[in-house]
Amino acid sequence: MVNIDIGIDLGTCNTVIYIKDKGIVVNQPSVVAYEVKTKKIIAVGTKAKKMIGKTPEEIEVVRPITKGVISDYTLTERMIKAYVRNAIEQRKIWGKPTICVCVPSGVTQVEKKAACDAVYRTGAKKVYVLEEPFAAAIGTNVDIDSPKGHMFVDIGGGTTDIAVVSKGAISSSKSIRVASCDFDDAIIKYLRKKYGVELGDVSAEQLKIEIGSVYPRAQDALGYAKGKELMKGLPVKLPVHSSEIEEATGEVADQIVDAIKNVLEVTPPELVNDIAEFGIVLSGGGSKIYGMDTLIEEKTGVRVRKMEKPELVVATGAGTARKYVAEEVVITSDV
Ligand SMILES: Nc1ncnc2c1ncn2[C@@H]1O[C@H](COP(=O)(O)OP(=O)(O)OP(=O)(O)O)[C@@H](O)[C@H]1O
Ligand SMILES: [Mg+2]
Repeated sequence: MVNIDIGIDLGTCNTVIYIKDKGIVVNQPSVVAYEVKTKKIIAVGTKAKKMIGKTPEEIEVVRPITKGVISDYTLTERMIKAYVRNAIEQRKIWGKPTICVCVPSGVTQVEKKAACDAVYRTGAKKVYVLEEPFAAAIGTNVDIDSPKGHMFVDIGGGTTDIAVVSKGAISSSKSIRVASCDFDDAIIKYLRKKYGVELGDVSAEQLKIEIGSVYPRAQDALGYAKGKELMKGLPVKLPVHSSEIEEATGEVADQIVDAIKNVLEVTPPELVNDIAEFGIVLSGGGSKIYGMDTLIEEKTGVRVRKMEKPELVVATGAGTARKYVAEEVVITSDV
């Protein structure tokens, strides 16, 4: 058993931190704003996200994690430092903390090491690493030690991680670099093509959250896309129907469902029967889009269990992984 003080979900969209005996203490966008000339950090998290697309030239706003892996090492390190400090302040931790951080399954050793190293440099005593779908499995509180097979699907912003877990270990898994941010991109493309309206990332995400659907709604919902007319360059508030968002995002949703079906195909029949009996457990912020559960149920024939706070599941799993982290993955000063 490992005494983990802090669990970190270093996500493409959000960084979530779980602290032992306290729970989730940080849930902030993985965004950093800094001054280009001096490299001085101006803001992190929600404050930095609000600055996207609105800063003068001398300030840059960056998402240092792309598709689940670190794309800007220095900024990631500084962002984690700010969050870990914030977390530690909320609960007195004596001495250096032991931290468990998650990475998407299928990342390279180099990418894994980069994540551990960045966390280590926040002043950790030891760093453990856990694959995201396994952390999600632990975080759901399902009895993963039982010989029965369970399927976990975590739809994040940059990656969708799927795993079948039995007897406390992953039996099959898959990670695809298709997730909820791809819904945003698909919405942007669709509105540009259909209406000649250009939308920013944040407005597209907002529209997705407000009226996004991957399955027909009982009643069509209406939202407004706040963007810019391409021809005139003027601001526009375009009325958009949820059925249009469904059309725009259909292909991305299908890719996610196909990946789930692929994992089911390679899973032994006994485990598939267990999964059918228990249901597929869905987590990640991307699972919150309207109709995702129904779509998966319809296409796989397996019922879906949704989590109450799906975006917090991975960090909770990392923070409570005690008996599931192996000694071999300890990262110490020789990183
Ligand atoms: N209510 C909602 N409806 C639709 N999408 C949502 C909703 N809430 C959050 N999302 C989307 O969920 C995504 C973020 O989910 P999450 O925090 O699990 O991702 P992440 O862990 O940062 O990414 P990854 O695991 O891929 O690295 C964002 O794309 C966000 O737009
Ligand atoms: Mg995630």
